[in-house]
Amino acid sequence: MILEPLVIGDLKVRIPIIQGGMGVGVSRYRLAGTVAKEGGIGIISTAQIGYDEPEFESEPIETNLSAIKKHLRMAKEIAEGGVVGVNIMVATQQYKRYVEAAVEGGADVIISGAGLPVELPAYVKGTNTKIAPIVSSVRAANVILSLWDKKYKRTADFIVIEGPKAGGHLGFTVEQLANIEQTNYDEEIVNIIKAVSVFEEKYQVSIPVIVAGGVFTHEDIVHCMELGAKGVQIATRFVVTEECDASDAYKQAYINAKKEDIVIVMSPVGMPGRAIKNTFLERIKKEREPITKCFNCIVPCKPKETPYCITKALTNAVVGDLDNGLIFCGEDVYRLNKMTTVHELMDELAAPNGMIFSQRFINRKVLEGMV
Ligand SMILES: Cc1cc2nc3c(=O)[nH]c(=O)nc-3n(C[C@H](O)[C@H](O)[C@H](O)COP(=O)(O)O)c2cc1C
Repeated sequence: MILEPLVIGDLKVRIPIIQGGMGVGVSRYRLAGTVAKEGGIGIISTAQIGYDEPEFESEPIETNLSAIKKHLRMAKEIAEGGVVGVNIMVATQQYKRYVEAAVEGGADVIISGAGLPVELPAYVKGTNTKIAPIVSSVRAANVILSLWDKKYKRTADFIVIEGPKAGGHLGFTVEQLANIEQTNYDEEIVNIIKAVSVFEEKYQVSIPVIVAGGVFTHEDIVHCMELGAKGVQIATRFVVTEECDASDAYKQAYINAKKEDIVIVMSPVGMPGRAIKNTFLERIKKEREPITKCFNCIVPCKPKETPYCITKALTNAVVGDLDNGLIFCGEDVYRLNKMTTVHELMDELAAPNGMIFSQRFINRKVLEGMV
């Protein structure tokens, strides 16, 4: 199937694929910039983005704020005019300052989950940065869109629906995640799209709905479009690309993972997350790892009680210290068996074999007609 370009207000995206933000450090300038260059939307995760800067230990928040601007600038240099944005978790300490830094750094879009971004419209007011909440249920979609409607007289520029197969923190209970094979999430997607259409009608705008979580093949994308989505957000598949910002050891852990290695863990954020089983997870199940230094990352964490420091665990993983690291992943990680490049992956996802060139040609023509 020929995929229609994604249109978000005045942004036109040739291939309707958003590369999902992945913290800590998994999606930074290189991955996001390359995805944008290849015609999708590249998303930088702002979660402890400055983890490898010299001042991070002493000034984590200030360092992250300047790293956001640095990574946006570098991604845009790669992107050659493509669309680059950021993912900022609502649970981030000093969330507002992260949003302001992203806007100052020229983020085209901001996607916010791990909580509902109630105040986000106020923080981007008067700018051209597009905003999207991440929701996992009709209820959450209605709550956030009604709040924005009442309080700010505006609506979302687009919406990301994140299903139970996604990676990172998940908007589901542990019990819901245990029954993932039996869950028919399509119905929820259709109902969310219906709920969103009420606000499209009210504001006379289009609010593209993007589906995330377990989108693995071109056929999966087509399926999402048939449900009424205008695009997809994909993360796990982008980890095993040369351009992904994680270490080779991290990427190799994805390639080696088997179905039985995938587990649900409770994160200090207070939400469940999906991860690859390893010695770190075995260890923290038995004993708590006392916190020696707090990096002020997320609001709900209680350093005196948390079983481990999530900043330390995620940064250890991304640099390749896997025995001391938490390796977040999506449900489909076990299906990955080789490294690729962003270019090859985008081609594979955008069109079934043999249609790659015509897809690109047609998309270009469609865009030319739209400009
Ligand atoms: C390693 C990893 C880290 C992630 N980190 C974040 C994050 O910091 N914030 C967020 O909103 N989503 C995060 N996600 C979720 C992705 O952005 C995306 O929506 C989801 O994983 C899509 O499902 P897929 O991985 O099956 O394609 C993460 C996912 C992975 C795999």
